[in-house]
Amino acid sequence: MYIPVYIHLTLKGHIVNNSKFREKYGSWAVVSGATNGIGRAFVEELILLKFNIVIIGRNQDALNELSKKIERNNLKSSSLNLDLSLPNSIDKVFATTDKLDVGLVVLSAGFGNYGEFVENNLSDNCKMIDLHCKTRMRMCHHYGNIFKTQKRGGIINLSSIVAYQGTMQAANYSAVNAFLQNFNEGIGMELKKYSVDVLSVCPGPVDTGFEKTAKMKFLLSSSAKTVANASIKSLGRKATVFPGILAKVLHYSLHGLLSRRLKVAIYNLAFKLLVKA
Ligand SMILES: NC(=O)c1ccc[n+]([C@@H]2O[C@H](COP(=O)([O-])OP(=O)(O)OC[C@H]3O[C@@H](n4cnc5c(N)ncnc54)[C@H](OP(=O)(O)O)[C@@H]3O)[C@@H](O)[C@H]2O)c1
Repeated sequence: MYIPVYIHLTLKGHIVNNSKFREKYGSWAVVSGATNGIGRAFVEELILLKFNIVIIGRNQDALNELSKKIERNNLKSSSLNLDLSLPNSIDKVFATTDKLDVGLVVLSAGFGNYGEFVENNLSDNCKMIDLHCKTRMRMCHHYGNIFKTQKRGGIINLSSIVAYQGTMQAANYSAVNAFLQNFNEGIGMELKKYSVDVLSVCPGPVDTGFEKTAKMKFLLSSSAKTVANASIKSLGRKATVFPGILAKVLHYSLHGLLSRRLKVAIYNLAFKLLVKA
């Protein structure tokens, strides 16, 4: 009996064709930030899509557990325990992945910090720029070149809805995400002609380890699964996705309608109402 390979149905009825997705972006995916939250949810989705996966993080127990899970599904895994904010760490990633048939990169290693910029630890803020901007930019350069040559591939780069305006209590975090958003849009346009897809992902608040690291609490949030699932469905269809209802409401209720100054003021108010230290 013919078994349909269509496995993912979106709310709108969009379908991800499992075998076509693997043909375009397989057979290996590289996922940074795989040990928790959104990156981990991507790994779960990619297991369903039958990808071999290189997982990167610093939590060795989580890496071990995830490797076992991937391999239990008859897929291959390679795990890298690396602090990606350190410049040399990326060379270790490239040394591992250059031997593999990589077609998809998911860049989700990241963190936020809550509070007034001048009171926050300066080295944490520098680390945020290294991890979100420099490391991801270098990774996109490396895999972008490989994908350009092989004329196929996909890059999913996590940004945030805060990319679109300066945000009180998250000034540096919103700035690094603005960098990522502009960067993703630019390379997305450049790589399109080589059949390489770039997706910028702009979630609103998501229930992950992010809150604990940033020492804050969201009063409303979406799930990491919603983010990963919507992103996979959007790759190759959109340049930017706002995954889930909360991200869409927070983004579209402001943008296009209001001046930038008013948007900054409203975001500052939203932060006061929806986020607690
Ligand atoms: N959660 C939200 O509300 C939200 C909203 C918008 C955008 N985002 C973005 O989504 C991305 C993922 O965040 P998340 O919510 O999934 O947070 P999370 O649950 O805290 O996960 C963060 C992941 O990044 C890894 N990581 C952090 N620092 C690292 C470093 N120096 N080197 C290597 N790996 C590192 C962590 O791994 P180890 O702990 O193993 O090192 C973990 O796997 C981030 O870019 C974040 O800015 C999140």
